[in-house]
Amino acid sequence: MKRSISTLGIAILLVTMAALPAAANTESADLEAPTFHNEVSRLLQAECQVCHRPNGANLGGMVAPMALVTYDQTRPWAKSIARKVQSREMPPWHASAGQNGLFKNERTITEEEVDVFVRWAAAGAPVGDPATAPEAREWPTDGGWMIGEPDLVLNVDEPYFVEDDVEDQYIYLKTTMTKDLLPENRMVKAIEFRPGSSAVHHIIVPNLGGIAPGNDPTIYTDGIASELKAGQDLQWQMHYHKEPGEGTGVWDQSQVALKFYAPGEEVKYTLQGAGLSRFDFALAPGDADVTTTAEHVFDEEARIVSYLPHMHLRGKSAKYTAYYPDGSSEILLDVPKYDFNWQTAYEYGEFKTVPAGTKVVFQSWWDNSADNPHNPDPTATVRWGEPTTDEMSFGFLSFITESNSGGSMFGGGGSDRDEMDMTAIVAFMDENRDGKLQKDEAPKQLLAYWAMIDTNKDDAMDMVEAKAANAALAKMMAARGQKADVEDKGPGAEPTKKSSAGDR
Ligand code: HEC
Repeated sequence: MKRSISTLGIAILLVTMAALPAAANTESADLEAPTFHNEVSRLLQAECQVCHRPNGANLGGMVAPMALVTYDQTRPWAKSIARKVQSREMPPWHASAGQNGLFKNERTITEEEVDVFVRWAAAGAPVGDPATAPEAREWPTDGGWMIGEPDLVLNVDEPYFVEDDVEDQYIYLKTTMTKDLLPENRMVKAIEFRPGSSAVHHIIVPNLGGIAPGNDPTIYTDGIASELKAGQDLQWQMHYHKEPGEGTGVWDQSQVALKFYAPGEEVKYTLQGAGLSRFDFALAPGDADVTTTAEHVFDEEARIVSYLPHMHLRGKSAKYTAYYPDGSSEILLDVPKYDFNWQTAYEYGEFKTVPAGTKVVFQSWWDNSADNPHNPDPTATVRWGEPTTDEMSFGFLSFITESNSGGSMFGGGGSDRDEMDMTAIVAFMDENRDGKLQKDEAPKQLLAYWAMIDTNKDDAMDMVEAKAANAALAKMMAARGQKADVEDKGPGAEPTKKSSAGDR
């Protein structure tokens, strides 16, 4: 009797031991554990140090908080590294695995590589034999510009003070383009913005694009450029965002570094852009799953170069889908866990060719519930707006076409695809934020059409009326055989010029 009990006891003990978390005894057990020198430092060099090093990448103001170069620098972070790679928060990349291998700025590591970090941390972060270490990786030291030595660095003319009480501020600043700075028009090959302070949330400069936290610098594929015009001042649309409060004011003077094509070097394409955006949504308080779509139809064959999905704090996920003329469809980009802090542009290694007639649909989802840890106020009805506490659904994509007819990106002009979008006008001009454009908020040009627009006669244009007005306008323009001019959306407009606001 006694014996069988003790057998049972041992059996229980064995079972319990087997069920103990592996970490508890791996320090001695995992003799094969990777060491810093033989494996971990190789991964850090390949996947992490572009950001995690002294003077590391400044991605639109996102700078990694620590260097992971030497053993002493890395050792204290071992457990944190294991956690962040296991949760797939590091390296930062938000596209689904279905798109692995497509984008040239992809930052992903394999399961085996995750495992190396995890086993290394569990084994107590052993240093290993320096003889097995790789050569230290050399990083450029030319002022830390990721595009290499720039041909021209442009500053905003004057430093600007972002006052203590500012939480969100949109303002236009300028770089005066003197003859000394730029004697003649140049074709731009690479662009790197550098925010002048941590209060910069995003910058948009017509023709040069812009930057938001997490953006990589732009390096155009050979043969593609945007044009910088001599004598044409640069307009900087600055969005500052910070915690307001005494002593939080900061000076900012942001910069952009440029590399040019050599004069005479062949440049065949200027990049074109389409902003697939919606302005007519309202997120109900607490709603955890609100979605909207916008689309763009290519009227000639195009090669898609990049995507940039943009929402604000309540953004949850986003997807671009192509619907081809032959009836088939394909997911182009799926971002299942959108993160507002990482405004990643997804840039193809090999451009994606889509035939004329392809419709690309951008669909985005928001979580306005209390379960969204970034939600500043789950009790609010949320509409389109520029502050991060309002929302956007903006699916940007850039492309090139053989006819090269679309002008340049971000309002560089010349597109024949410009359309007036009444829902955008309502969103932009709705001062009292009630989701409608009161007659006294409306621009003068609209008043002539007011009787046609305001069909329910409440002296306001709501989103339903705005969409009806879009349809009526489109019809009118088709009848006249011409397209409407784009309305000046005024200060603070996102580059929604070529927007196609969905189901018209
Ligand atoms: C594109 C730049 C970039 C790359 C590549 C990158 N990181 Fe990071 N990392 C950051 C930034 C910026 C932060 C701070 C903000 C954040 O946590 O999102 C961060 C935060 C971290 C943290 C958390 C630090 C803390 O304060 O708690 C760890 C750990 C980490 N990274 C490890 C890694 C490892 C390991 C790799 C490579 C496998 C890696 N990172 C690749 C930019 C990067």
